[in-house]
Amino acid sequence: MKNHDIVEKNIGLMTVLVIVAISFGGLVEIVPQFFLKETTEPVAGLKPLGPLELEGRDIYIREGCHVCHTQMVRPLRAEVERYGHYSVAGESVYEHPFLWGSKRTGPDLARVGGRYSDDWHKVHLFNPRIVVPESNMPAFPWLYDNTLDGKHTEAKMRGLRKVGVPYTDEDIEGAGDKVKGVTEMDALVAYLQQLGTLLKEKR
Ligand code: HEC
Repeated sequence: MKNHDIVEKNIGLMTVLVIVAISFGGLVEIVPQFFLKETTEPVAGLKPLGPLELEGRDIYIREGCHVCHTQMVRPLRAEVERYGHYSVAGESVYEHPFLWGSKRTGPDLARVGGRYSDDWHKVHLFNPRIVVPESNMPAFPWLYDNTLDGKHTEAKMRGLRKVGVPYTDEDIEGAGDKVKGVTEMDALVAYLQQLGTLLKEKR
């Protein structure tokens, strides 16, 4: 019997060998990424989010914005012409969890920072149909009424520091007080306005 026959007629052995083959392929693709500077080094000027933007990001996640919006401009001509410079890994090194996504019901938001005024965002989030009549994005009017209490801001920053975000003690100390009383709307808009601004000029 040839070696190949042995493998083909023994499903257990074949399963094990298939797993070995696939794992090897996976390792070859994945492991080098950890050592490539390009994927692990922050892009020039990247700073961790301030307390207000950080709280805004959590509201973005809570409201499910990432379910309809990606934050990843693909390196394709149509995308780059519409949104700006394609997303690079070094922009996301402080993101836990990252919000790249793959489902676009609305436009990509990776570079939305600075594209509209704060007022535009507030009106749009209050009721998208006021500024974009054909929009089917939901309204989020409660963001105007809810205010932040800042109770967990410092703990969140400490948690992020544990996974490698370089917050200093000064960044963290008093962070909760800085956001206390601010509306969720202001926090979310602050978050949106910094998205993707680092690479925007090089478009
Ligand atoms: C059910 C899907 C859906 C959800 C959830 C959603 N959006 Fe949208 N969003 C859209 C659609 C569709 C558009 C395009 C029409 C428009 O501009 O209103 C849009 C447009 C936008 C734009 C304008 C982008 C541009 O480049 O013109 C911003 C900013 C935005 N959304 C932010 C948010 C934020 C922040 C949240 C969460 C609070 C959110 N969206 C939740 C569907 C959604």
